[in-house]
Amino acid sequence: MADEERGDRAYLQPPYRIPPRDRDEILAGLNLDLMWEYAAMIQYIQHASMLTGPEYVAVIEEELEHAQDEHEHSVILTDLIQYLGGVPTVEVAERATSPDNATMIAQDLQAEYEAIGRYLTRIQQLEAVGLYDSAQKIRNIVVVEQNHAIDLEKALGIRRAGQP
Ligand SMILES: [Fe+2]
Ligand SMILES: [Fe+2]
Repeated sequence: MADEERGDRAYLQPPYRIPPRDRDEILAGLNLDLMWEYAAMIQYIQHASMLTGPEYVAVIEEELEHAQDEHEHSVILTDLIQYLGGVPTVEVAERATSPDNATMIAQDLQAEYEAIGRYLTRIQQLEAVGLYDSAQKIRNIVVVEQNHAIDLEKALGIRRAGQP
């Protein structure tokens, strides 16, 4: 690296300083989210292969699209974790599967519900320390997770209207 370049970098001022305790908590949370994104991607790929029957053809296509979305989310999270000063994990959370079609879809739906809950917590944590830009990235992800949940609820025949 040229001396001139190093000199230029000395002037760099990051846009925010996060209290170390808050930063550690947020990074631990984002790495947990990442482990579950990796797991969701694997689970969807496996379920898409194992689902069978004419009524599941459309669901199989959807599950493969979800797997691609979870891959994208993983990349958004790894970049965000690195940007905030952490090291993205290579650990993978638990995966679930079943020989039964409807059970697999229910496992996927439960995973989406849990992901939405974790992301809503993450948005609160990020906004509490003024990281509105990072919170926006998580908002973009959680909107996709909600759509995944809607797809799976429809596949399972769950109608929420009229429910208490
Ligand atoms: Fe995701
Ligand atoms: Fe999802």
